[in-house]
Amino acid sequence: NEIKIFSPATVANVACGFDVLGFCLDNIGDEMLIRKTNKKGIFITKIEGFDLPMDAELNVAGVSALAMYEALNVDYGFEIEICKNIKPGSGIGSSAASAVGSVFGMNELLGKPFSKTQLTEFAIKGEALASKCEHADNLAPAIFGGFTLVKSVSPLEILEIPSPDDLYVTIIHPQIEIKTSEARAILPKEVSLQSAITQWANFGSLIHGLHTSNYELISKSLHDVIIEPHRSKLIPYYNEVKMEALKTGALGCGISGSGPSIFSLSKGLENAKNVEDAIKNVYSKADIKFDTYRSRINTEGIKII
Ligand code: HSE
Repeated sequence: NEIKIFSPATVANVACGFDVLGFCLDNIGDEMLIRKTNKKGIFITKIEGFDLPMDAELNVAGVSALAMYEALNVDYGFEIEICKNIKPGSGIGSSAASAVGSVFGMNELLGKPFSKTQLTEFAIKGEALASKCEHADNLAPAIFGGFTLVKSVSPLEILEIPSPDDLYVTIIHPQIEIKTSEARAILPKEVSLQSAITQWANFGSLIHGLHTSNYELISKSLHDVIIEPHRSKLIPYYNEVKMEALKTGALGCGISGSGPSIFSLSKGLENAKNVEDAIKNVYSKADIKFDTYRSRINTEGIKII
């Protein structure tokens, strides 16, 4: 009657794929316990790690759970315990992990009546509480694993994109918080045709590179001419970190989701380790507190533990 799950962190946007592309990380995530209870309704009974609202209607995990609950006709309810390891506002899908965790767990306890796409649909309601906008580029990789492309939000259509075996991720998280809603508010409402052409050329070739395990093409495609110029201003020493990562052999480097975390992709573990050392150095020298994570692409996604 209860289930424990691991709900992974994710990287959204992946440079040129703003709001549509994302991938799943394998060693950082939240742990959640979902339990059936005789009382009808959704109840958040425990949150560890960070100070977040316990009221289900004000909590991302609660809102997505309520969205699913309304679609059910049951005479019992669910309790949710959250052990939050992903810092809110860090840019690696903290709200998405909460949003998918509750609905994934409930679906398991119910005998899996809902598809992964339907789960993403419920989770969008929770994610929207945090970012003030319905987007699924962190939710989809958390639920499906690997790289995912959100072809459309309404109706929701998600494509699973293959990931090359030797791809490693390095994340550096400077210890500041950026709210997704604020990082969205600073973006221009219109873009130039020339930037759009560059961006969709890169996006198309990145997808092709992922399909064909063409690391060189992946590297040539990991550029963002639309979002990065605006958001990078919010991140301390962004250009220095990026330059170091690329100089040390990263295939590409960009803002993870809405930041402030910065992700780099590398071919092979050795390269990823070198990139990690090099970028740590930038923040150490500048006396900025940070965390780093190294991960492979998690092709499994959210799971029972
Ligand atoms: N695509 C979203 C954004 C992801 O960049 O605003 C943040 O959660």
